[in-house]
Amino acid sequence: MSRPGAVLCVFLFVGIIGCNGKPAAETKIPQEEVDRKNPVPSNAASIAEGQRLYGATDCALCHGKEGGGRGVLAKDVNMNTHDWRKPESLAHFTDGELSYLILKGKGRMPGYESRETPEQVWQIVNYMRSMPVGGAPKS
Ligand code: HEC
Repeated sequence: MSRPGAVLCVFLFVGIIGCNGKPAAETKIPQEEVDRKNPVPSNAASIAEGQRLYGATDCALCHGKEGGGRGVLAKDVNMNTHDWRKPESLAHFTDGELSYLILKGKGRMPGYESRETPEQVWQIVNYMRSMPVGGAPKS
């Protein structure tokens, strides 16, 4: 059976509204975002500010105070959070990808672009990169 509607849809609407708009969870991160360089130097000041923002927002509810991925919400719900204190969990992300995921959200995670400025998100990325490595997950 032919699907003229679907074909028309592809031809007419792709790029305008997107026929099968997918949730953030499945959106591929654009290459320019992957390659985006972190403009905020990683130093004591930016890491401290990132830590403050991480605590002041609700990140820890899911990701845990120390990034272990076992925040109070993640304990109740089966969330796909990762233990950021293990080097391999963040190693395959670029800073650009981390920043994009924080701004746009992914899966169960909400996007933060209305709550944090891009600069604040880079500071959070710097903080995440500084999270203590190793040890058993505590929170
Ligand atoms: C409601 C729970 C929740 C909150 C609140 C939340 N996250 Fe997440 N976050 C998740 C989940 C679940 C994932 C994994 C998503 C997936 O891969 O499907 C995730 C993934 C991420 C990732 C991608 C790297 C990875 O480990 O998958 C980053 C970066 C991130 N979160 C940062 C943050 C920051 C920073 C905040 C606060 C500004 C925050 N998150 C708030 C649930 C949350």
